[in-house]
Amino acid sequence: MDFASFTPEYLQRAERLKWQVPAGGIGAWVAEMDYGVAPAIAEVLRGMVDAGSLAYNTPRQTAALREATLSFCADRYDWQVAEDELFIVSDVIGALLLTLRHTLPAGTPVVVPTPAYMPFLSVTTAFGYPAVLVPGIDADGEYQLDLDAIDSALAAGARAVVLTNPHNPVGRVYRHEELLALSEVVERHGAQVFSDEIHAPLVIAEGATHIPYATVSEAAAAHTVTATAASKGWNIPGLKCAQLIVTSEAARTELRGPIQAYYGSSAATPGIVASAVAYRDSRDWIDEVRAQLRSNSILLGELVAEHLPGVRYNVPQGTYLGWLDFRETGLESPAEFFLKNANVRCNEGITCGASGFLRFNFAMAEATLRDAVGRMGEALRRR
Ligand SMILES: Cc1ncc(COP(=O)(O)O)c(C=O)c1O
Repeated sequence: MDFASFTPEYLQRAERLKWQVPAGGIGAWVAEMDYGVAPAIAEVLRGMVDAGSLAYNTPRQTAALREATLSFCADRYDWQVAEDELFIVSDVIGALLLTLRHTLPAGTPVVVPTPAYMPFLSVTTAFGYPAVLVPGIDADGEYQLDLDAIDSALAAGARAVVLTNPHNPVGRVYRHEELLALSEVVERHGAQVFSDEIHAPLVIAEGATHIPYATVSEAAAAHTVTATAASKGWNIPGLKCAQLIVTSEAARTELRGPIQAYYGSSAATPGIVASAVAYRDSRDWIDEVRAQLRSNSILLGELVAEHLPGVRYNVPQGTYLGWLDFRETGLESPAEFFLKNANVRCNEGITCGASGFLRFNFAMAEATLRDAVGRMGEALRRR
């Protein structure tokens, strides 16, 4: 793939949320990649449009996605998911709400480790499940879950933990022992985990491996609902399709009815078809993308060191998001500052629950990345 061809001019030709920026600006915010879609996905979608078949999904289409999901989990994560544990839904956030609503009484507090993917802070509370925010620990520069604080929150009445792995925004890919330690805390309280593994196909660091939380122990499997999707990895979030892997028998009993009655048919047909093609036929594409993201994640570190003195950044192990710590620079709202002074649009850390940070999406052409951070450095020097 010619990653350099995804220039701002090219990207501005079609409507994309990430590139909703003032003229001449650079979009480094919402979690979309600038790399288009895999050829096999484009081809299958074109075929559907050409045939005039944007219809309801057929049993063959859903069966193909089910098979592709099970094979992908087995091949990439060594995870043998049982047929009856897998459900197709429209999106991960909807799946979180569905899980909360059908497995916990309204008003039950839910632990959200912070920083967090923004909707976890808002939708939980908005839908009647108050978020208990538990900041992570900085362990010699490595973000870790604060298990003691999670323990206390569960002891105080929270009944679920929202885990994100790989983590958005910090990019951690948790080790086996970390996941196991979390599962022991959760189990002690008879609580449950919603494990958001939407970024699992996007592990980028050498030596890092995605370990599905539900695989670390039988107890973990029994208290977990896992959500994943091809939408981040293959850059098709607008196609509305996700997969729920419900290893908790108790949750399966509660969720099966509502999913069969409605939620299971809420996924969009193009999303179902494209996700099957992604998992089955587009593995080379994502591997090429991961290599580019790995290179960009390292380049971002070099550019930060060169242009943004005082800013801390740990090269992420997964996702395509850089989590930049501006606290030493005295910038309280760095995203607002850089939009105004560098015309680079990023996400404000406070929207993830941490002030003085900025989330930078580096899934862009290398030249754009250099331009963006160079501009940010200039703005900082002019301040
Ligand atoms: C961690 C995480 N979870 C969920 C989502 C959204 O998923 P969906 O569009 O399937 O609700 C995103 C999107 O960026 C994400 O980063």
